[in-house]
Amino acid sequence: MRNILCNIINPVSIEKAEYLTNHVLSLDGKTILSITSLSDFEGEYEDYSDCLALPGFIDLHVHLSQYRIRGHYYPALLPWLKQSVFPEESKSRDLDYAQKLSEDFFIAQLRAGTTCSVIYTAPYREAADAAFFTAQDMGIRALIGMTLMDQNSPENMLQTTDYAITNSIELHEKWQTDLLGYIFTPRFAPTCTKTLMQEIGSYANVNKAFVQTHLSENHAEIAWVKELFQKESYTDVYQDFGILTSRTLLGHAIHLSDQELGTIKASGAKITHCPDSNFYLKSGEYPLKRIQEAGIPFGLGSDVGAGTSLNMLYHAKMMNFRQSSDPIMPEEMLYRVTLGSAKLLELEDRIGSLKPGKDADIVFLSPPPDVGIDQHSLSQICFYGEEFRVKEVLVAGRRHTF
Ligand code: GUN
Ligand code: FE
Repeated sequence: MRNILCNIINPVSIEKAEYLTNHVLSLDGKTILSITSLSDFEGEYEDYSDCLALPGFIDLHVHLSQYRIRGHYYPALLPWLKQSVFPEESKSRDLDYAQKLSEDFFIAQLRAGTTCSVIYTAPYREAADAAFFTAQDMGIRALIGMTLMDQNSPENMLQTTDYAITNSIELHEKWQTDLLGYIFTPRFAPTCTKTLMQEIGSYANVNKAFVQTHLSENHAEIAWVKELFQKESYTDVYQDFGILTSRTLLGHAIHLSDQELGTIKASGAKITHCPDSNFYLKSGEYPLKRIQEAGIPFGLGSDVGAGTSLNMLYHAKMMNFRQSSDPIMPEEMLYRVTLGSAKLLELEDRIGSLKPGKDADIVFLSPPPDVGIDQHSLSQICFYGEEFRVKEVLVAGRRHTF
């Protein structure tokens, strides 16, 4: 049992956040028991009154196996994959490498205040297992997938279709714990055969499993997909092969026709918007207004290694900065890295905001020395959050300090 005096900022909706100054957050093991105004509280408490408490951040799209190649610059998706990504991901074939990388990655995520993420690993079963075992040991909350590539891939990464399917299903059956789950991860259409996508789509549909992939990020990629599969659109490939379900997370989704937006909306699939990556690789500007008008839910991803940081407050800022004319308010920036993303993962009953009964996934931020805590705090953390120190992070009540 812990009682912590702090100042809470909670997302409520896209438009609204609530401030609870000088409140005592009472935790019972992994759960938030109560939130009480200091004036109504009796008993001992830990004094974090110089801190802000927020729900832990959620990263909906991140490549663990690319953590070490952040900033290896080549501003075009397909050559960047070939030159930087594939050589690095292939190193995770070595179990020791994959193991150490997983540890470094999860520590870095916690240091950035991220308490839940949706992860691509490498195309090796052992690397995916290493990520799961490490996450389990550290008490991490995540959906993790083995990246699937059974065509158009370097020889040392190329899976047989059978390997890709069998190991994905085994991993799905094996990793269903309180905090961890599996996500089927066909990398993107160019590296996946029709058979693989159909099998994964059909299994995911029957078993109500999560699926993640990349969609319409880059013009050369889109042209390649149309040529490979002879379809009218990139979205049609996923739709026709059964990949689009209400538990599918589509990375990027930048260059889409109205018809494609209609297909995605009808399928119930969600979008993971990765603004930093989109400008790093010069992929293009996310059509935020059109996607909102189409009514497609979306949340934010770092897309490390094309994204340069694991800090989701930085990506919330990038979401604002990577729209040339439409401003995004701090309440929405917060929502997109907390409650909004929890909803996409169907986890809003457990995480995404600080409420009695929810799991204690909490980040405590200390403002820089000259910055007080007041009604501007949310706006300040959205625009210079990296200057706020992450004092402590809790995942389901487990404490990590730095
Ligand atoms: N499309 C297919 N693979 C990748 C990847 O690793 N990163 C990004 N940004 N796009 C991809
Ligand atoms: Fe990605």
